[in-house]
Amino acid sequence: MKKLYLIGNQKMNMTYSELEPYFEKLTEIASHSTNVVGVCVPYVYINLAKYMLDGSKVLFGAENMHYEDKGAFTGEISAQMLNDFGCDLVIIGHSERRQYFAETDEQVNLKVKKALETGITPIVCFGETLEEREQGLTHTVIERQLTGALADISEEDMGRLIFAYEPVWAIGTGVSATPEQAEEICLFAKKLLKEQYMVNDCIMLYGGSLKPSNAQEILSKPSINGGLIGGACLKVSDFEQLINTKVE
Ligand code: PGA
Repeated sequence: MKKLYLIGNQKMNMTYSELEPYFEKLTEIASHSTNVVGVCVPYVYINLAKYMLDGSKVLFGAENMHYEDKGAFTGEISAQMLNDFGCDLVIIGHSERRQYFAETDEQVNLKVKKALETGITPIVCFGETLEEREQGLTHTVIERQLTGALADISEEDMGRLIFAYEPVWAIGTGVSATPEQAEEICLFAKKLLKEQYMVNDCIMLYGGSLKPSNAQEILSKPSINGGLIGGACLKVSDFEQLINTKVE
């Protein structure tokens, strides 16, 4: 049985009163699962996650962070602050950050390095837009994003990263990549990581409208080790089905 990583990305959705029962249920679901379960939540709920999930099998973390240690960055949160609350994970370079908050490959790289230095596992996101795919630029864009994100990271640290291939056109649209499309890019990314960075084995997630109805087929692909789940992690019963996915 392949061990899968099922990590929720809540984005800006749930609130305190919803999260309490959600975390409670998630703890119970994860306790029965042989897969790895995680959830990334808005900053203000990280304390609640720590309180309710610490000591359980559910990993938790943030959806973003700043790369500086401290300073005049109104509204920002540092890696050390996340570490203070026991964050295991942090999503870096999500396409929504790149698209709406103008995050660059260079900033992604600085964030990845800072997270590693602080002892938090970065989930490094990459993926092409529909326009880029239609123009035949998918591989070029992905290579640029990955080499940009990974500049100056030691071989040893490479082994501590989680990657997430998230085609922008599949995020939140209800239309996921086909299992073949997802596999093709995850394999391409793994080959690149091996050839350029000596990464022999890494955790490669797929994200983009992953849901109970398509999870089995997508997650059974050989180069895919799990999913980064947006919409479908918000309903605990859907997330449960995803967490319980079993593939050979
Ligand atoms: P989605 O989002 O599952 O709602 O498409 C995935 C993500 O953005 O991580």
